[in-house]
Amino acid sequence: MADKRRFDLFAELLRTQFPAATRVFDVAGGMGKLNEALSRRGCEVITFDRRHKHLPVTFAEREFTLDEPCACDLVVGMHPDGATRVIIDYAAKHRVPFAIVPCCSDNSMPYKPWMRHLADLATTQGLVVQEVELPMEGRARVILGHPPVS
Ligand SMILES: C[S@@+](CC[C@H](N)C(=O)[O-])C[C@H]1O[C@@H](n2cnc3c(N)ncnc32)[C@H](O)[C@@H]1O
Repeated sequence: MADKRRFDLFAELLRTQFPAATRVFDVAGGMGKLNEALSRRGCEVITFDRRHKHLPVTFAEREFTLDEPCACDLVVGMHPDGATRVIIDYAAKHRVPFAIVPCCSDNSMPYKPWMRHLADLATTQGLVVQEVELPMEGRARVILGHPPVS
């Protein structure tokens, strides 16, 4: 069972790590609870998820793909399952920062190799990567990435 505090903890981390980022794409956002938590903290958020039942937040009921026009300055995902890699690829393509809290891989890779693979995926696309941990139960490690400061 995922920790119910995860949305507030992640939102707080995002505001601290990326204070200038106020337009956020929340990918694979499920019900939209991270959207709520970020909106309470002054962000404009669009949640992307295939699900139809969700909270009354700004919500795009569709798969998130690399073709999504970039109207954000940060792209994030809490336990984004099959959308984990596309978040990194999207950040690299559009040169925006990203933050993900990975859980399961999309190809049965065990957790630690999956985390290493994701960090490598970001660095090989020219992003600078850092890992931190949220103080919560379950999958709590966060991979943060941003384009290098020129
Ligand atoms: C484990 S749930 C996590 C939901 C939410 N972030 C949370 O922490 O409760 C994974 C979600 O990813 C969504 N998802 C998977 N691939 C996606 C994609 N390419 N685009 C948008 N949503 C996707 C699923 O519909 C599901 O709601």
